Amino acid sequence: MASNRGASTLDIILLGPPGAGKGTQAQRLQAKRGMIQLSTGDMLREAVAKGTPVGIKAKVVMEAGELVSDAIVSALIGERLDTAAAHGAIFDGFPRTEHQADALEILLGERGRKLDHVIELVVDEEALVERITGRFTCATCGAPYHDRFHVPQVAGTCDACGGHEFKRRPDDNEQTVRTRMAEYRAKTAPILPLYEAKGLVRRVDGMLTVEQVAAAIDAILDG
Ligand code: AP5
Repeated sequence: MASNRGASTLDIILLGPPGAGKGTQAQRLQAKRGMIQLSTGDMLREAVAKGTPVGIKAKVVMEAGELVSDAIVSALIGERLDTAAAHGAIFDGFPRTEHQADALEILLGERGRKLDHVIELVVDEEALVERITGRFTCATCGAPYHDRFHVPQVAGTCDACGGHEFKRRPDDNEQTVRTRMAEYRAKTAPILPLYEAKGLVRRVDGMLTVEQVAAAIDAILDG
């Protein structure tokens, strides 16, 4: 299929363990550059909320902190990939296994696209437990916040949309977070060497402030 893309259109992966800041940075890139955030976690949570067959299967797995099947998440990405054709995709939480990495390469190749960067957010896992257990989002627009690190400018009001309802994820408790981290180490971290061999990996210190991490990512994308 012919691609309909500008010369500066980029497809990138944000890779890092739970709480590394993938979603925060993906939303910023989407707002600033018009790129499209493709978060398999968000897609699965939407399916769970709607009670679709995929959501019913995924709910128990997600609440245990384990990985949903490769076939399900690869299909979700395949369904949405064309929405990011013109402005580029930010893959957030995908791929998470070698199978998913292979599936992504095929899906992009079928559309005349290829990955431009794999940006690894390098973080201290212990600090992430505090990040995740303090996290909450706007129930209306999904803007991310944190009890200590990023509170709304006006208490109880979303900076982005003015909404007043906020929510927390059921898998953001310490025990589930530890399982999610173990899954990351066992199944996701091993895909990094595959991307390193292709010269795609760029590293960013994910323990810096949100703004500093954003600046480092911008420097990579503009480089
Ligand atoms: P998913 O939704 O992808 O969750 P995750 O990878 O565990 O990542 P998180 O969303 O928890 O963290 P994040 O890196 O986006 O950090 P955030 O920006 O929010 O997956 C959930 C589940 O779905 C999985 O466990 C699995 O079951 C299933 N799933 C999803 N994709 C799958 C796949 N491909 N295959 C199989 N199963 C899949 O930041 C965290 C907090 O820190 C926020 O409060 C934020 O405000 C704050 N923060 C961010 N950056 C900073 C900073 N620099 N300094 C201080 N605070 C910061």
